[in-house]
Amino acid sequence: MSDLKVAVLGVGVMGADHVARITSRISGARVVVVNDYITEKAEQIASQIEGCRAVIDPLDAIADPDVDAVVLATPGTTHEKQLLACLEHRKPVMCEKPLTTDVSTSLEIVRREAELGRPLIQVGFMRRFDDEYMRLKALIDGGELGQPLLMHCIHRNPSVPGYFDSSLIVKDSLVHEVDVTRFLFGEEIASVQIVRPGSNPGAPEGVVDPQIAILRTVSGRHVDVELFVTTGVAYEVRTEVVGEHGSAMIGLDVGLIRKSAPGTWGGQITPGFRERFGRAYDKEIQRWVDAVQGGDTTGNYVDGPTAWDGYAAAAVCAAGVESLESGLPVDVHLAERP
Ligand SMILES: NC(=O)c1ccc[n+]([C@@H]2O[C@H](COP(=O)([O-])OP(=O)(O)OC[C@H]3O[C@@H](n4cnc5c(N)ncnc54)[C@H](O)[C@@H]3O)[C@@H](O)[C@H]2O)c1
Repeated sequence: MSDLKVAVLGVGVMGADHVARITSRISGARVVVVNDYITEKAEQIASQIEGCRAVIDPLDAIADPDVDAVVLATPGTTHEKQLLACLEHRKPVMCEKPLTTDVSTSLEIVRREAELGRPLIQVGFMRRFDDEYMRLKALIDGGELGQPLLMHCIHRNPSVPGYFDSSLIVKDSLVHEVDVTRFLFGEEIASVQIVRPGSNPGAPEGVVDPQIAILRTVSGRHVDVELFVTTGVAYEVRTEVVGEHGSAMIGLDVGLIRKSAPGTWGGQITPGFRERFGRAYDKEIQRWVDAVQGGDTTGNYVDGPTAWDGYAAAAVCAAGVESLESGLPVDVHLAERP
């Protein structure tokens, strides 16, 4: 089978990483077009890859007859227009989260895709491809823990970019635990509450950090999430599920433990998301490429989170942003699934 010819739109942190993994770490695909708002950036990346060229307009890149499929790694604000173009040209697309930046446009994308009769959009919730999360999911589904009852999560970053405000902590950070909850428990989230503990004196002026999110699922399961994005320490993502017959935890960073004089021991904490989830991103893109390659026979161009998952996460995060203001639990209302 010949390689899938991919266009990567937005070659910033994530897009450049995806170009590198498609080019050197996974099989069955190659990057033939790159596009970026900053043309020189795209040209510089294209010049390093054989058979790849920079295309100035993102919509031209999507429509390009030489492009079989698209990876969208542009900022969330541009996703709606670019996803609609992918649907118009019937191009399978791996869209980095968020699907779009608000609930109504996310739902519109879900509906437009449904009208075409086959899923073309995969959303980049990469934790579903992480070995530890996959093992936790298998443990829950295997029934060894009995009924899962609670989940405790920690999501800490050493720092975030200057534009990160209180609501982005919900929409950009919590969104991953929202998807993890839906993935591990296999049900929708009914309500969300954001509690504000005392703020970190080291957080930028006006940014509510840390935050505690309390999610309640439709069947009544409880999930709490500590979100703390200015720790100054490292990247820490931990998840503990408590069931009727025991509990299980992932994300302990127990790699190499060193013991040395005088009487100290310790290891290293993962510095950032690319180190922590690098293998998950590889698996995510490999499985997407394989699904798109097999799409003509199976009729399915997605192997992972769908546009609906992107919409559901957007709906929960919108309720979270509302709760950030009021401090009260806010119900999540999902449209009927097309
Ligand atoms: N799954 C994850 O863990 C994860 C992690 C980080 C970022 N993301 C997501 O990936 C996407 C990109 O984030 P990033 O951190 O790489 O951002 P970034 O700012 O580093 O890169 C974005 C790039 O897109 C370019 N761009 C801006 N507008 C454009 C347009 N209209 N058309 C084409 N290019 C345009 C910018 O010049 C920039 O090079 C976002 O949706 C973000 O939420 C996901």
